[in-house]
Amino acid sequence: MNSYRQTHRGSILQLAVFLVLTGFAGSMLAQDGSAFAPVYARDVAPILQQKCVSCHNPDGIGPMPLQTYQQVRPFAALIKDRTGKRMMPPWHNDPTTGIQQFKNDASLSEQQIATLAAWADGGAPEGDPANLPAPIQLLAGGAWHLAEELGPPDLIIKSRPYDVIANGQDQWWTPDVPFEGLESDRWLRAAEFKPSYPLGKKVVHHGHAVLQPADGGRAVALARYGVGKSWEMYPQGTGMLVPAGGNIAWNLHYFPVGIEGEDDVVEVGLWFYPEGQQPELVTNGESMFRVDGLNGMARGQDIIIPPHGYQVLQGTHVLQSPAVLHSFRPHMHMRGKVMTMTAIYPDGRREVLSQVNKYNHTWQIAYIYADEVKPILPRGTVLQFTTVFDNTANNPINPDPNQWVVFGRRGVDEMSHAWVGITYIDEEQYVQAIAQRRAYQETLSLN
Ligand code: HEC
Repeated sequence: MNSYRQTHRGSILQLAVFLVLTGFAGSMLAQDGSAFAPVYARDVAPILQQKCVSCHNPDGIGPMPLQTYQQVRPFAALIKDRTGKRMMPPWHNDPTTGIQQFKNDASLSEQQIATLAAWADGGAPEGDPANLPAPIQLLAGGAWHLAEELGPPDLIIKSRPYDVIANGQDQWWTPDVPFEGLESDRWLRAAEFKPSYPLGKKVVHHGHAVLQPADGGRAVALARYGVGKSWEMYPQGTGMLVPAGGNIAWNLHYFPVGIEGEDDVVEVGLWFYPEGQQPELVTNGESMFRVDGLNGMARGQDIIIPPHGYQVLQGTHVLQSPAVLHSFRPHMHMRGKVMTMTAIYPDGRREVLSQVNKYNHTWQIAYIYADEVKPILPRGTVLQFTTVFDNTANNPINPDPNQWVVFGRRGVDEMSHAWVGITYIDEEQYVQAIAQRRAYQETLSLN
């Protein structure tokens, strides 16, 4: 269970290498000790290709393309600024605490950040175009991301068309649509939420598609979306039961800033396990964990953030059975700054599992743990969540620090909860999972 310690050591090592590389004056040194002067073609383009152009292309959600020297050159200083502050790429996990291995890690290494900075400081030279990396194939704007790995979806469900008004304010669209296309109950393997292209990608802020089964049984959340989080794939052998038939309750939050359009339709692609195959572990997908005063208080009742002030809220949840965590996705609004998820084990030991310390409401990022490090928690573990709200003028996206802020669903009001991908397991499965983890750690220490 302590395998994340491993990664701390890794990042300290990385930091040491970085300090050696950058020297004290902030200029970079090459391995032979001579000054390293990064150029676009050889040093910068590969980083942008790997970490930026998936959004910064003419069809992507980034405001400007970053695919050629001519496009990138005018933004050199801004690129240094945004990457140096770790605002770009959008990945707001605290690199100094908690688990650091993720399936979807978008962050830059310290060394990449230093390269971009040294390049901008050095006058952003082009270098020899012969050293440019080979062009990469970008996913078409309307494509399913998961199709590359899983093939086309087994079933696609659609919302009803919505006319988007360009008023720059929150709009909600909550159509009910019959759920058709399944002949029998099936086990869900993966789901992807896809706003229309190109309109929806720019105006759908977040949403869910929840199945209300025909027999009146428990509702099943098929997909939850936020800018920065569009798909969910359960680990091999884990699935969610989807009853055939019922109604899909769509809950779509539009936030169109100056953009309008007609007939916007959102789609969700579903991938199932083969018919008749039942996965070993049953998950409910992402579950909501409140981070506010629980004890019988109505949700959000204790969110009261003073003007020019801060508020810290906590929520605790005792695990009634052992569990495996797959992902962590904090949800706050414009004053939200930090959310921490800590495990307090039955023996009293505490461990920070994840901390997002540069939260930005624009992005709803699910931090998806790598399989080798995902937390396996015994029954009785307390999951403790802590949020910090910043209503001061130091918060760059604070619309008005003079206001009191309370709970509400508009972006200018607040919320305080986490979506955690969680699978509850029984004691036997827990013992097995821990044994597997130990065996894995032993192979690491042998190498
Ligand atoms: C997941 C999509 C995504 C990725 C990946 C991404 N960006 Fe962005 N970028 C955006 C969006 C959207 C904005 C505008 C909104 C915002 O600032 O959050 C933006 C804004 C910026 C800005 C500020 C532009 C301005 O005019 O204010 C810079 C600079 C930038 N990105 C550089 C980068 C660099 C460099 C990388 C890679 C190291 C990167 N971005 C990766 C989506 C992305």
